[in-house]
Amino acid sequence: MQTHQFDAIIVGAGGAGLMAALYASKGGANVAVVSKLYPTRSHTGTAQGGIGAALGNHEEDSPLWHAYDTVKGGDYLADQNAAKVLAEEAIDAVIELEHMGLPFDRTPEGRISQRRFGGHTSNFGEKPVRRACHAADRTGHMILQTLYQQCIKHEVKFFDEFHVVDLLVNNGAACGVVAVQLGTGELHVFHGKAVLFATGGWGKVWQVTSNAHSLTGDGAAIAFRRGIPMQDMEFFQFHPTGIYKMGILITEGVRGEGGVLINRHGERFMEKYAPRIKDLASRDVISRSIYLEIRDGNGIGGKDYVYLDVRPETVNRYLAEAGESRRVTAADIEKKLPDILDFCRVYLGIDPVKEPMPIQPTAHYAMGGIPTNVDAEVVIDENWTVMPGLYAAGECACVSCHGANRLGTNSLVDLVVFGRRGGMAIAEFVKHADFVPLPANPAAEAEAALKRIRQSKGKTRPYELRQQMQKVMMDYVGVFREASGINTAIAAVNELRHRYHTDLVIDDAGHKFNTDLMEAWELGCLLDLALITAYSAAARTESRGAHSREDYQQRDDANWLVHTLAFPKDFTISSTGELHVDLNFNKKVDLSLAEVDPRFAPKERVY
Ligand code: FUM
Repeated sequence: MQTHQFDAIIVGAGGAGLMAALYASKGGANVAVVSKLYPTRSHTGTAQGGIGAALGNHEEDSPLWHAYDTVKGGDYLADQNAAKVLAEEAIDAVIELEHMGLPFDRTPEGRISQRRFGGHTSNFGEKPVRRACHAADRTGHMILQTLYQQCIKHEVKFFDEFHVVDLLVNNGAACGVVAVQLGTGELHVFHGKAVLFATGGWGKVWQVTSNAHSLTGDGAAIAFRRGIPMQDMEFFQFHPTGIYKMGILITEGVRGEGGVLINRHGERFMEKYAPRIKDLASRDVISRSIYLEIRDGNGIGGKDYVYLDVRPETVNRYLAEAGESRRVTAADIEKKLPDILDFCRVYLGIDPVKEPMPIQPTAHYAMGGIPTNVDAEVVIDENWTVMPGLYAAGECACVSCHGANRLGTNSLVDLVVFGRRGGMAIAEFVKHADFVPLPANPAAEAEAALKRIRQSKGKTRPYELRQQMQKVMMDYVGVFREASGINTAIAAVNELRHRYHTDLVIDDAGHKFNTDLMEAWELGCLLDLALITAYSAAARTESRGAHSREDYQQRDDANWLVHTLAFPKDFTISSTGELHVDLNFNKKVDLSLAEVDPRFAPKERVY
């Protein structure tokens, strides 16, 4: 076992991790990034349509309107101080990325080009606004490349293909992580004054997802196993437009460019559900509308998908109907949405310039996760108590700027804004903090957990459990939920978890690049997070944002304007029994904007 010592250990090399590493390094810290993937393969690279910032390059815009849309889009569960920081600092973050060399698309005058996106409006909901700054439909890819180059320039040390499997805590403070070097199977201990998790989401809990194979919630599960609560886990977003059955993301930018959703009768059905902004309503509203159409038999051919239509003749018809002078050509679509056209041509044999795309909602984004304050410090209870040395940013974190439903483009804003804040906070922290000693035998628990999987002699292969979990979560803890279905899911996932601990078998007992072993370990994270999600969903007896209960259809601000904190109860890493979770609802939503401006007060959402 090798031990390394750095001021700051950043786990994950997506946008949040790289931004944090860059700023910690610029602030004078000695920084290591430990990532299970090669950095430029991180999932930020799949973000397509844009990063929101009220630059006002095409029309008037303001960060206050951006904050309002974020709070409203989040169905009023967003912490308003965090939404304000997000919207205000987005502007500077985007300009900074531009100055680092990010090749944004341009307006004819040379400014950063912006497009419309769901839920983004001007003047407190009046009309859609062009706020999404984009580099074609490869915005996340460009952010990732740009930040990676900057980190190399600033001498951040990268440990690529090192899979973190444990968080080390001593005397109530974070002091490092344990990682498997994938190429050798060797365990490494990273001893740090500060640890920041930026490990992304856990879309692989569900059957149809836009998330890559690697999105298994490792950081969140590891933190939970060390006693850190998971916040607002019932809120998991289904993006309305994934490729039918495959789940691959079709950016909301398609609708931003004028694309529309169409049912089997050729109707633009969002006119019924969101008469004002139609196909640009927030994602929770659109995903539910698609399912309602399908339930009513209006799916294409009566099946469980609808069409997304961006053919120029369709787009131009609706632009004319809306009284807009703009018209689009096939060449415009080719230029603005090249990857989308490629995906459809390659995976479906469909050319979106000539044919509509078959789509269905796809599990996309965790609004919940490791609770943090606006400086990315991890908080461990409802009193905002900070765990010294521990930070989180990006999708694995819950600073709660997104509340119950995130607006498109705000994930990229979140990771650059709060990644940067985390990096700055770490740079200050490590100047004054000492190294907390490592616990005795720091790698022992991780080693035992991996050994148990490697030597297991059961009959069940990990993929069987994963498929069953994904199906049950899709069926019962998806876009719509109700008590008996959620309870079915809880019982089923508990049973799967029990089999995971008592009846597992893997085929590869080797050490070098043992993906069989690591995927089995990742499955343990997914099962834990699936259960926490289901328990949290069972407890919240209201409908809000992405959590839509058929047995409690109303939002209930009197009782539920609070965050869910799920704590592990009697948890041990080698547990074979049920996962018990204590739920706490004492963490109130920050309503600081509403206190000075009644427009931010919770009210019924109309789109
Ligand atoms: O639709 C999209 O391009 C996705 C963006 C996001 O999740 O923010």
